[in-house]
Amino acid sequence: MRTFRIAPSILSADFARLGQEVSDVIAAGADIIHFDVMDNHYVPNLTMGPMFCEAIRPHSSAPIDVHLMVKPVDALAAAFAKAGADIITFHPEGSEHIDRTLGLIKDAGCKAGLVFNPATPLSYLDHVMDKLDMILIMSVNPGFGGQSFIPHALEKIKLARQRIDAYTAKHGGEIWLEVDGGVKVDNIAQVAAAGADTFVAGSAIYGQPDYQAVIAAMRAELARVEA
Ligand code: DX5
Ligand code: ZN
Repeated sequence: MRTFRIAPSILSADFARLGQEVSDVIAAGADIIHFDVMDNHYVPNLTMGPMFCEAIRPHSSAPIDVHLMVKPVDALAAAFAKAGADIITFHPEGSEHIDRTLGLIKDAGCKAGLVFNPATPLSYLDHVMDKLDMILIMSVNPGFGGQSFIPHALEKIKLARQRIDAYTAKHGGEIWLEVDGGVKVDNIAQVAAAGADTFVAGSAIYGQPDYQAVIAAMRAELARVEA
């Protein structure tokens, strides 16, 4: 039985009221805060640094899931660990030494994960499963909120699920499978059926006035999925 987690992306929140937006969405039933870091180099957009993470940390006890869309990765990963991140994921293309970067995140006391762009092969997983707490499959090209879900991501989610199940059956442990980009009430069940357990949703939640209603509607859809 899979546990489903909803992770609102604060990229679509009102930045002038960020602390309140964080506590509101958790009060509305979300499980995790998804924190998108863009550097205007690895992706063509610029968002929040570690100081923002530190600033929102007191506003909720929910895990902060830092998604680094940056190159290089290591110094920022360390800074986010210090700033209160619980989970830190990065794109393999952003790091020259993937194994070292994963180790650095774990040594800093955080959960670590790799992120796969729509065209990035899952073969990056081949030799690092033992260091992963999370695999994040992008269902849009990273850089912006509010884009449409790319349907062929479903195939990749299924393949990632197979890899996780095969690995954990043999070695134990837990690896979360997160999906990010274009997830909404009307496709979350399909994404879950493909094998995801953690759902990032930015515009679908923060774009609506009633966060609780959207999250309840997502949970109702998830309840229909056999996990
Ligand atoms: C995209 C970011 C996403 C984004 C998702 O590069 O990684 O987390 O905020 O936004 P929506 O849910 O609106 O596609
Ligand atoms: Zn993200």
